[in-house]
Amino acid sequence: MSVNPSPTVDTAELEEISLALARGKGILAADESMGTIKKRFAPIGVESTEENRRFYRGMLFEAEGAEEFISGVILFDETIRQKASDGTPFPELLARKGIIPGIKVDTGTKPLAGSDGEKITEGLDGLRPRLEEYHALGGRFAKLRTVYSIGAGLPTRYCVEANSHVQAYYAALCVEQGLVPIVEPEVLMDGDHSIDACYDTTLRVLRSVFARLSLYQVPLPKILLKTNMVLSGKEAGDRAGVEEVARRTLECFHEVLPPELPGVVFLSGGQTEEEATAHLNEINRQAGDDAPWHLSFSYGRALQASALDIWRGDAGNAGAAQEAYLKRAKLNAAAVHGSYTAEMER
Ligand code: 13P
Repeated sequence: MSVNPSPTVDTAELEEISLALARGKGILAADESMGTIKKRFAPIGVESTEENRRFYRGMLFEAEGAEEFISGVILFDETIRQKASDGTPFPELLARKGIIPGIKVDTGTKPLAGSDGEKITEGLDGLRPRLEEYHALGGRFAKLRTVYSIGAGLPTRYCVEANSHVQAYYAALCVEQGLVPIVEPEVLMDGDHSIDACYDTTLRVLRSVFARLSLYQVPLPKILLKTNMVLSGKEAGDRAGVEEVARRTLECFHEVLPPELPGVVFLSGGQTEEEATAHLNEINRQAGDDAPWHLSFSYGRALQASALDIWRGDAGNAGAAQEAYLKRAKLNAAAVHGSYTAEMER
């Protein structure tokens, strides 16, 4: 494969794609790595075979009417090459419905050399030709996730800065190759830390990421940020409520995010389906017309948990599983407009 550092793609198109992904609708993250999808299938007694993965993801992609609420889908390397049962390649199936195909390009988190348990994300080596291939396969946006744990003295400056380099150089390569980069720094929810600790860490991480994006001359109107909400740790005793989560998340964003950024798409990060929707709704309700960014979702677990539980590997359950997925998609799209209510769950 040739390496083309100056593709013919018109990168003005990237600004439109970025807006189309975050404005009024959200993204389905269906890019679980081999290890993660195995973990999602295990509790429902489904073996992680290539065919089971193809069937399950195809079922979500073919759900009728999803395009009303879903702007894009993040695929895994295997999935972008797979076909629906009628032989249509998945990227083509999605594009025909008006859903933008995207691709996860990181190759996972690995131990950060010389650190005590922190992680660095890999995937930069050989990324330029891989992006060229993904674009040819129909991918129009990409995602790379870096992770940060909160703890005594953690995350270290070494971990934060090293991962910011990865994010910013990945983003620069994506723009060059004509894909919108979704820059995804995730401050993990694991632990018993306070919401203040999450606020401080998220602020530090985002400040570092945006400083590096600026240094590497990444045009912010051509990217999206995917990040965590500002939340109490999962095991914290007195967890912050919905109003506080929304207020602290917006406070953090107003402190650090440049107005040229078109949007933020949140990850769910281990929240329940209902929590993730209620938080997103309150964030948009409080933001009103004040926020310069679109505030939407790019959920994995919070769009799929019920659907997986209903499906359980039985094709006979596919229709009901699709309905459960459509319901989450619809409620989260309502949350983007701040018009979700708990009654809509019934
Ligand atoms: P969750 O919404 O399950 O956190 O997954 C989103 C994602 O893409 C993580 O990289």
